[in-house]
Formats: sequence, structure tokens, C-alpha cells
Amino acid sequence: MYLIESEENVGFLTASYVKNRIEAFITTPEKPYFVIALPTGGTSLDLYNHLVKFHKEGLLKFDNVVTFNLDEYIGLPAKHPESYHSFMARNFFDHIKIPQEQVNILNGNASDLEKECRLYEEKIKHYGGIDLFLGGIGQNGHIAFNEPGSSFSSRTRIVNLSEDTIKANSRFFNGDISLVPSRALSMGLGTIMESKEVIIMATGIKKAQALYHAFEDKTNTAWPITILQKHPRVFVLADKPAASEISKTIKQNYGLCSFIK
Ligand code: PGA
Repeated sequence: MYLIESEENVGFLTASYVKNRIEAFITTPEKPYFVIALPTGGTSLDLYNHLVKFHKEGLLKFDNVVTFNLDEYIGLPAKHPESYHSFMARNFFDHIKIPQEQVNILNGNASDLEKECRLYEEKIKHYGGIDLFLGGIGQNGHIAFNEPGSSFSSRTRIVNLSEDTIKANSRFFNGDISLVPSRALSMGLGTIMESKEVIIMATGIKKAQALYHAFEDKTNTAWPITILQKHPRVFVLADKPAASEISKTIKQNYGLCSFIK
């Protein structure tokens, strides 16, 4: 796990990395698509702004890209402004050219939710697994909606959101926690760990404690992010406030002088 503490915009760095990965990808008959896992949430807004900008400037195309979103609320109509379907359309997909069939978002209103999760896993496998996983981190250390206590071998499934997450996300629902769905569908930690490469974006002091655990704690289910210590290729991109609880020694051990954009 590498820490990239950056004064630069974390969203811009991540977008640049994504762009280079897509450019470097060579389509073959066996592997026609580059597969990206996409997050939602406040931290990801900058990433999408920059990806859209690259696209509009003609620097980035998504013709050979397949996307899988990390999670979706259960029971919120897809058209609700805070569903992740709406979030992705508003902030990304409405502004880029990508064939509809290459976009995958879990359906939190499916009549058989377990089947929906099973099919999602099968589809990810069908495309050869996730090449590049992009995610944020919850204040409680969650990745996607894998809340504290999630099994390290979990797959895409129905999850209950923790009180912390419901409270944090109520800012998108006029501060009213009763409007935040209490359940969601989420990729599992096992699903995420099979990704070839992982980028975690973290900004702001609210993420400092979670990042402290990510780097300084032992691997434990109370802080789901710690599972990534066991993944061979993880970059955590953090601004100064988010990285402020990580000790100097750890920063020296885990830091990279430069991040290959
Ligand atoms: P945020 O969410 O970017 O809105 O803070 C990140 C997350 O909960 O994973």
C-alpha cells in the first residue's frame, strides 16, 4: 500500500492516472475492455469533473471501457436525485460518450436482490475482473458499503448501513437521517481484493482517523480499509488534512517520491 500525500488536487491526480491507464490499455480479442470500478460520494466529484474535462478536450475516450459502480441504495427509485444512478448520470455519464451496455450499476429495486448481486459478480468475471478499482473511504473505514465487521471474503451482497454512514450521508438528504435508506447493495471486500489495482481517494480532516488505521493498525474487520494492506497494488491519494494522523516514519516507509500519473 502506497501513500501519496499531495498538495495537488486528489481528483486531478486520480483522473490523470485513469487516463493514462486507459490510453496504455491494448484491446485484444481475449480482453476487449478495460474494466473500472467507480465510486460515488463527495470525494469523487473532482475526479469526474476532470475525467469529463479530458473527454471534452478530446484527450480521453471510453469506447473500450466497461464500468461497474461500487454500490447502490436499496429501495430508492433510480430517478431519485440521491440514487447512485442519478449521481452517476448527473456527474459523469450524461457528459461522456460511452455505450450504455458498457455501464453497470446495481439495481437496488430488483425484484430478486440476491440474484442481482450474483449476476453482477458473474458479469465482472465475464469481463475478466476489475482492472482498476477507484474508491473513497468512509469516516468509519468502509470501502464501498462494506461497513465495519464486513467479512474479508464478502462478495456483492445486501448490506445494512451503519449509523455512522447514515449520519454522514444525511447531508445529501437535507440532513434528515430518516430519509437515508438503511440498506444497500455493495461489492464485497473479496470482490475488491481481486481488482488488479486499487486507488483510494481521501480528502479532509474527517478521513484522518480512517487513514491512520489504514496505515498504522493491523488488518482487522473493525476497520475494513485495513484489508488493503494485503493487496499488492494500492495507492492511497490523500490531501494533507486526511494524511495528518499518519506518523512521519510510516509516511517515509509507505510514501512514493513521485506518483506515475
Ligand atoms: P464521501 O464518501 O466521498 O462522500 O466522503 C466516501 C465514502 O463513504 O466511501
